[in-house]
Amino acid sequence: MAHEFKEISPNASAGAKLTNWFENRFPTAFDAYRMHMSEYYAPKNFNFWYIFGSLALLVLVIQIVTGIFLVMHYKPDAGLAFASVEYIMRDVPWGWLIRYMHSTGASAFFIVVYLHMFRGLLYGSYRKPRELVWIFGCAIFLALMAEAFMGYLLPWGQMSYWGAQVIVNLFAAIPFVGPDLALLIRGDYVVGDATLNRFFSFHVIAVPLVLLGLVVAHLLALHDVGSNNPDGVEIKAPNAPKDANGHPLDGIPFHPYYTVHDIFGVGLFLMAFTAVIFFAPEFGGYFLEYNNFIPADPLQTPAHIAPVWYFTPFYSMLRAITSEMMYALIACVLAGAFLGAVKARLPAIFKGGVVGAALVVVVLMLSIDAKFWGVVVMGGAVIILFFLPWLDTCAVKSIRYRPSWHKYLYAIFVVNFLILGYLGVQPPSPVGERVSQVGTLFYFGFFLLMPWWSRLGATKPVPDRVNFTAH
Ligand code: HEM
Repeated sequence: MAHEFKEISPNASAGAKLTNWFENRFPTAFDAYRMHMSEYYAPKNFNFWYIFGSLALLVLVIQIVTGIFLVMHYKPDAGLAFASVEYIMRDVPWGWLIRYMHSTGASAFFIVVYLHMFRGLLYGSYRKPRELVWIFGCAIFLALMAEAFMGYLLPWGQMSYWGAQVIVNLFAAIPFVGPDLALLIRGDYVVGDATLNRFFSFHVIAVPLVLLGLVVAHLLALHDVGSNNPDGVEIKAPNAPKDANGHPLDGIPFHPYYTVHDIFGVGLFLMAFTAVIFFAPEFGGYFLEYNNFIPADPLQTPAHIAPVWYFTPFYSMLRAITSEMMYALIACVLAGAFLGAVKARLPAIFKGGVVGAALVVVVLMLSIDAKFWGVVVMGGAVIILFFLPWLDTCAVKSIRYRPSWHKYLYAIFVVNFLILGYLGVQPPSPVGERVSQVGTLFYFGFFLLMPWWSRLGATKPVPDRVNFTAH
C-alpha cells in the first residue's frame, strides 16, 4: 500500500526535517514504532512480575553480543578448545569480562525466564486469547535448553564432555532408532571433535536464529491480542471503557511509560548481574562447575556428573524413573484410564479406546527399559507446559480472584520444583531417589489433574476495571 507523502513546514527544525525525510522513505519503520511502542496500550497496573519479559530480551542481546566476541578467539577443535578459552580468560584484553558475562548470562537467562513463566502461571496469561503467545514461549524455552546444552560442550572441560556423553547416550535408549540417533547427534561413536564442531555450529548460528524468530513471533502475537495484567481484566475487550480516541482507559502507551519503568528494572538487574560477574562468577560452582576447569579426558569419568542448575529439576525426574518407579507409573496409567472410562462424557466406543490404549501403554512400559521412560518423563515435563492453556479450566484467570487455596498449591509447586532442582545437583542417594519420585508424581499430578482441581472452590468476583493506585 502506497503511503501518503507527508509535507513539512520550511520553518521546521533540522531534526524534524530529517525525521520527515526518513518517514517518507521508510514509513513501515515509523508505523512499527507507533504500533509497538508509542501507541501500544498496555494495562496500567503492571507490577514487578512484568519486568522479566524485557529482561529476557536484554539478556538475549547480551548473549548475542558477548557471543560474537567470544567466537573471535574461541577454537572449535577438540585439541584447541580448552586452551582457547583459557587464552580468552588470561590473554585477550577484557576477554575474562566477555566470558564471565556470557557464562553468567546463561544462568541469568534461566532465572529470568523461569520467573517470566511463573508470572504467566500466576495471572493465567496463557489463557484465551494468549494461547499462541504461551506456545511460542514454550518453544523458546525448548530452544533455550538446546542452546545452553550445546554451549556447555564448547569449553571442552570434564563436565562439558561427560555431561554431553550422558545426555546424548539417553537418546540411545529410544527403541529401534535410538543407537543410530545418538550416533547422528555425536557424529562419532563417542563424544569427540565431530560433536564439538556440530554443537558449535548449532550454538552460534542455527539455534540463535530459531530463538530470534520465535521471540519476534512471541511479541507480535502478544501485541496482536494485547497484554494480560495482574487482575486478568481484558482492557481491550469490546465492552471495556475507552476514551474519545478509542484507547482503553485502563491502558497507557508503552512508550514512554513502560520504557522508563523497564529501564529502572534493567538498572536493578544490572546491579545483581555485575555483582555476580565481578565478585562470584563461578557462583559456588553453580554457574561454572569446578570440574569444568579440568580439560576433557575421555579416559577418566568424573566421580559425580551433574548438569548445570537450570536443568536439574528435569534431571531429577529422569533419575527418579527406576524400574521400581515404573510400577507406580503403571498404576497411574491404569487409574487414569479407569477414571476416563467411568467419568469422561464420551461415547462407549471412545471409552473402550481409552482403556485399550492404556493397556497397550502398560505392555510397552513393562517391556521397554526404565531408562527410556525416564527420557520420556523428562521430555514430557517440558512438553506438558504447551498444553497448559487447555488444562486450566478455572472460571477466572488471575490468582487474585481464584480460591485462596490455589495460592498454597502454587507455593507447593514451586517448593517441589526447587527440591527437585536441589536433588538433581546431589549425588544419587536412596532418600533423594524416593523424594524425587514423589516430586515427579506431584509435578505431573499438578498439570494432569488441573482440569479437575482448577474448577473446584468458589472464585472471587473479577472487577470491571483494573486495580490501580497512582504512585
Ligand atoms: C527469550 C525468551 C523470552 C523473551 C525475550 C520474552 C519476551 C517477552 C516480552 C518482552 C513480553 C512482554 C512483557 C511481559 O509481559 O513481561 C512477554 C510476554 C509474555 N511471555 Fe515471554 N519471553 C520469553 C520467553 C517466554 C517463555 C519461555 C514463556 C512461557 C513458556 C513466555 C510466556 C509469555 C507470556 C504468556 C506473555 C504474556 C504475559 C501477559 O500479557 O501477562 N515467554 N514475553
